[in-house]
Amino acid sequence: MESSSKLAVVIMAAGKGTRLKSRRPKVLHEIGGKPLLSHVIAAASQLVAPGDIFAVIGHQAERVRAVVAATGIQFVEQTEQRGTGHAIQCCAAAIAGYDNILVLSGDVPLIRPETIEQLWQFHQGEEAAMTILTAAPEDPTGYGRILRQSPLSAEVQAIVEQKALTPEQLDIAEINSGIYAFKTAPLLKHLGDLTDDNAQHELYLTDMAALLRASGELVVAVQATEAEEVLGANTIADLVALDATLREATASRLMAAGVTIFRPETCVIDAEVEVAPDTVIEPFVQLRGNTRIGTDCLIRSYSVIENCTLGNSVLLRQSCVLTDSTVADGAKIGPFAHLRPGSEIGEDVHVGNFVETKKSKLHKGVKAGHLTYLGDTEIGEGTNIGAGVITCNYDGVHKHKTSIGKGVFVGSDSTLVAPVTVEDGAYIGAGSCITRSVPGEALSVARARQTTIEGWVAARHARQEAEK
Ligand code: UD1
Ligand code: CA
Repeated sequence: MESSSKLAVVIMAAGKGTRLKSRRPKVLHEIGGKPLLSHVIAAASQLVAPGDIFAVIGHQAERVRAVVAATGIQFVEQTEQRGTGHAIQCCAAAIAGYDNILVLSGDVPLIRPETIEQLWQFHQGEEAAMTILTAAPEDPTGYGRILRQSPLSAEVQAIVEQKALTPEQLDIAEINSGIYAFKTAPLLKHLGDLTDDNAQHELYLTDMAALLRASGELVVAVQATEAEEVLGANTIADLVALDATLREATASRLMAAGVTIFRPETCVIDAEVEVAPDTVIEPFVQLRGNTRIGTDCLIRSYSVIENCTLGNSVLLRQSCVLTDSTVADGAKIGPFAHLRPGSEIGEDVHVGNFVETKKSKLHKGVKAGHLTYLGDTEIGEGTNIGAGVITCNYDGVHKHKTSIGKGVFVGSDSTLVAPVTVEDGAYIGAGSCITRSVPGEALSVARARQTTIEGWVAARHARQEAEK
């Protein structure tokens, strides 16, 4: 940010969010997989250093602080929430050393740094005491309205809250975004003049417009080009709409970069997800958190991938659930596979239907095609795991490891009671319950021998006839 004068950002985030009817503080509600406040901090961080960002917290302050503490911003406590004007009054000491402040709302999360920059430039150009970022959304209902000096003038007379609008003022299309720039000196000088003589009996920051103007200060407005980015989240319906806007933008960003997303409106893609070009995403896929997907992958419908890294040319068949795991190039997963945290799926591995893995490393070319549980297990290159194989990793108290070497063949329906090791090249007969280690190149069979009684059925019939 080009300026010699000192600038701080204040984010108002102390409110309860009564209209959300939620036990969770408003600014911790999420859109695009991230709390509202985190979105606003991210935008502010592109303008000033984290140390010059102050969040006003109050309702469930400790919970809010804990969620965003790692960003390095500072906090101001507003123990009693007496309105947006009161929130800024609580910041008086914190902001005294800055020439100007930008005020952002913790519940206006889609604001882009470019737009805040535009507000800041305008504020400096006009040398105003207060500059209001405004917009003209399709439906202005619920927002404070801007009373301009005259339609073409940048000068503002006042901001009128929805509840105080006169019938004629109801038609005003220009709304207050809740985002402002202030010169600190006049703000601090008149901040104490706010009164709670209004419908909510609160101290409104919006009243500063008329107060500053009455004392001969310049108050101006600048309109954002995209009304969508300054919409607030006061109700669950608002939140869901903002979430949709954000996800639409994420899908558009990925498509512009060469990713095919069929029916993007059915996909849930978090804001920070990265996907390389030429990957195809089918309808109803969810990509969440810190997920990275390589090039030439096919992600078929109904899969949910959270905090995973997928390499290139991965085929994810329908209805897989992948969490905190990695999948290397060329792997084929699913349908109906479940990769639980700590799964490392190697190159060209095949994990088939109804296979569950957890904290397990499958090296290159391993095949586990059907109905299997692999937990706390390492499996060497090229090993084949038959249908229905189960690692018994839990003894009721502790978890134990299973180690399977390279080129091993584990017959179907075998159980491997951990801790146990199967060395390179060994074979395990189908239906075995393996409780002791198997040496390399050996065959282990651990099941009852089959007994066959020839002619048993006819003999039984004869006995039954005789008893009649
Ligand atoms: C506010 C504006 C309105 C504007 C709208 C834009 C006022 C009086 N009205 O209304 O003109 O159109 O934003 O979204 O400012 N907060 C505190 N402490 C408090 C009260 C609120 O920190 O005591 C925080 C809230 O957590 C929230 C923000 O300030 O993040 C805005 O408060 P909110 O009650 O949502 O104001 P609106 O009614 O939306
Ligand atoms: Ca609001």
